[in-house]
Amino acid sequence: MKIWHPYTQEATELPPLEIDRGDGAYLFTRDGRRLLDAISSWWVNLHGHAHPLIAEAIARQAAQLEHVIFAGFTHAPAEELAAALGRILPESLNHVFYSDNGSTAVEAALKIAVQYWRNKGRKEKNRIIALEHAYHGDTIGAMSVSADSPFTQSFEDLRLPMLRVRDAEELEGILSKQKHEIAALIVEPLIQGAAGMRTYPIQRLKRFRDLCARNEVLFIADEVFTGFGRTGRMFACEHASIVPDLICLSKGLTGGFLPLAATICTDEVYEAFYSADPAHAFFHGHSYSGNPLGCAAAVASLKIFDLEPVFERIAMIEAIHRNRLSEFENHPAVAEVRTLGTIAAIEIRADDPGYLSNLRTRLYPHFLEKGILLRPLGNVIYTVPPYIISAIDLQYVYDVVQETLR
Ligand SMILES: Cc1ncc(COP(=O)(O)O)c(C=O)c1O
Repeated sequence: MKIWHPYTQEATELPPLEIDRGDGAYLFTRDGRRLLDAISSWWVNLHGHAHPLIAEAIARQAAQLEHVIFAGFTHAPAEELAAALGRILPESLNHVFYSDNGSTAVEAALKIAVQYWRNKGRKEKNRIIALEHAYHGDTIGAMSVSADSPFTQSFEDLRLPMLRVRDAEELEGILSKQKHEIAALIVEPLIQGAAGMRTYPIQRLKRFRDLCARNEVLFIADEVFTGFGRTGRMFACEHASIVPDLICLSKGLTGGFLPLAATICTDEVYEAFYSADPAHAFFHGHSYSGNPLGCAAAVASLKIFDLEPVFERIAMIEAIHRNRLSEFENHPAVAEVRTLGTIAAIEIRADDPGYLSNLRTRLYPHFLEKGILLRPLGNVIYTVPPYIISAIDLQYVYDVVQETLR
């Protein structure tokens, strides 16, 4: 049996590196090399690899209860996590639906939005609006609200029809004519990660939220990437002082240890499902919904925010990003630099811009040789380090990028 790896053209790419162990911001290969994980292993790791507090919480939980069906049952880790999320989210977001990964968090949010209106007797409100350049995951529903890209092109006939807007003016235009058939707008707040760390203004996010509120359209914030401090605040929506109707969380939820996701909604949304009519229930779930190990990891990860100076680390990363990116701003090879919180991106000029840019093929192995895991999104070099990264290591990432451009 051979393993088929994700997002990998195995015919042309290097064979996978075998990782033996992780420690802090580092990964160690079986053949004794040390790699600096400058992308938090696909944006999931927050406090460092193998953080003992999370590792111990998982071990303790595994010895007590590894899993139980989540329909008709509950357990302490799920309840503790709900309470912990309640403490960091706005008060009005108070019903959490657990699933397994970012894509399922989005699927659940889309289905909740559509069924919300149906349960309220408005089944014509069943269309979703998404943003240009969006990425929300790889399952069919999540892929449908994502923008056209090399990831979606083979599945054009399978994708569900969605409405797409670039900005608030376009959203306003659609809502003025079609609001009676729109269930929800889904956005990645302030930064579109997979599109190449594309940022957009706080004011635009505020207007999206406001237009939804004024037009009876649910507002879904996909904070799968931006949640848990990535953008410098616990959640990206905080930058705009907005509260969504639904929020999708995953990736950093467990500190990067286990697959778990949460789709969280308001009383108002939940109440449309709470009824004597069994057909009004949300018929969605996964075998591992609310997995106790994942919940225990997430509770431990959130505890680390209280026990360690996490936001000071985030501020240190932000400051280094801002300082070092300024060196690249006017570089002849650079089209644009972008940063938000712990996220930084350098878009390189290319004849073939986009995810399949040939630049990536050359840059990725080069960075590995320099001891850094950086996985450019096509012609966009970006870093999203674990918060535990040292200033010296982050400076080294920039030194290597600088030298590479030279
Ligand atoms: C904003 C956003 N939503 C959803 C997803 C999908 O998450 P997952 O890969 O866990 O399915 C991602 C993954 O990168 C993402 O960035």
